[in-house]
Amino acid sequence: MFPAMSRTMKVLLGVWIAALAVAAGWIGWDAVRGDRPSIGGPFTLVDQDGRTVTSDSLKGKPTLIYFGFTYCPDVCPTSLLLMETAIEQLGPDAAKKVNLVFITIDPERDTPALLKGYVPNFGPTFIGLTGTPQQVADVARAFRVYYQKVPGKDGGPYLMDHSSIVYLLDRNGRFVTHFTHEAKADAIAKAVGRLL
Ligand code: NI
Repeated sequence: MFPAMSRTMKVLLGVWIAALAVAAGWIGWDAVRGDRPSIGGPFTLVDQDGRTVTSDSLKGKPTLIYFGFTYCPDVCPTSLLLMETAIEQLGPDAAKKVNLVFITIDPERDTPALLKGYVPNFGPTFIGLTGTPQQVADVARAFRVYYQKVPGKDGGPYLMDHSSIVYLLDRNGRFVTHFTHEAKADAIAKAVGRLL
């Protein structure tokens, strides 16, 4: 590329570019919008009825989002039940005032049809979202969700290793706070209640 450059110059240029990349990554990680960490962002996915759902479609109501996969034996169901339990604490109408969203990080298996049979287990208003592997990768990156396919035992179906976080967004789709699956339902209810 730069035939006239000395070997030393090339090495120095390489080091400089690498340092810039690290700095850019670091700044990106720590970037804040006001006092909020930059988590989330625009996305386009498809719901359990095959309808396109974007980050904009969720605006107007506070949103709880959890990323997981339907084959998950324990942590995902626990987290989704926690979300539903928290919303129930806010009264009988609360489920209509909050978006409860499950986004699969296993789009290969979690089709809209599969989600349609899964999300109602956790509440009638639950929205299950899937998409192309790229769409899912994009939304997961925006929310800094980690996920990785892991082989099943004895040739059984694969599992997904994944971070387990419940995200709370305000009615403008901005990140407010997050909870682990070990959070107390009251704590989530309180935080959501402040946004209603
Ligand atoms: Ni899980």
